[in-house]
Amino acid sequence: MVILSPSILAADFTILGQQMKLAEAGGNEYFHFDVMDGMFVPNISFGIPVLSSVRAVTDKVLDVHLMVQAPERYVDKFIDAGADILTVHQEACVPLEGTIAKIHERGKRAGIAIKPHTDIAVLEKYFGLADMFLVMTVEPGFGGQKYLDSCTDKIATLRKALTERGLDTDIQVDGGITRDNVRTVLDAGANIIVMGSSIFSGDITENTKFFSELFDGYNKGERA
Ligand code: DX5
Ligand code: ZN
Repeated sequence: MVILSPSILAADFTILGQQMKLAEAGGNEYFHFDVMDGMFVPNISFGIPVLSSVRAVTDKVLDVHLMVQAPERYVDKFIDAGADILTVHQEACVPLEGTIAKIHERGKRAGIAIKPHTDIAVLEKYFGLADMFLVMTVEPGFGGQKYLDSCTDKIATLRKALTERGLDTDIQVDGGITRDNVRTVLDAGANIIVMGSSIFSGDITENTKFFSELFDGYNKGERA
């Protein structure tokens, strides 16, 4: 199932709730919530109080991406604040298996993210454990960057490896996805598509509608 996950990192925070409603009018199922700690990535975004506020204004799936050093420290706090999916970086989380288990014990879905230069081989031992793998398609830390073409093969290799093991685990992509390259990542095997700038610049509802209609077509087997 192909799913759109608009990243609120690119929204206007002075009218965040209104902009989320504009996105929902176009038909997204998720919202992506990019948490940055200034340690794992060279930027600081937002955290638990903002997630609680966002939780209060939407019933969409809150897909929380922790670009945080030692994220295991915050699993309970982000779930208590409303996270439905919690994704941690393989490069930042030493007790990764235990952290995935803890997210599952709380009844939530667990994702593992890797940066563009991290090999997908590090994910293999989590096949069948994680509910989603996030292949970063830009260096994490900032929205509005250009898609790294080298990631296309990485997505396809990961999808092939999962399929060979009979797994249909979600593959999420995040960073630099636009109307021009979205079919490239879909055809490579990604199915949870994060977009910030492509949604929250210009006509938010029209942007969301464009992508949700495209994804509906893919879900019906019509490669538009
Ligand atoms: C990078 C962020 C961005 C964001 C999407 O750390 O995770 O990738 O979600 O931003 P755009 O879609 O504007 O590249
Ligand atoms: Zn993200």
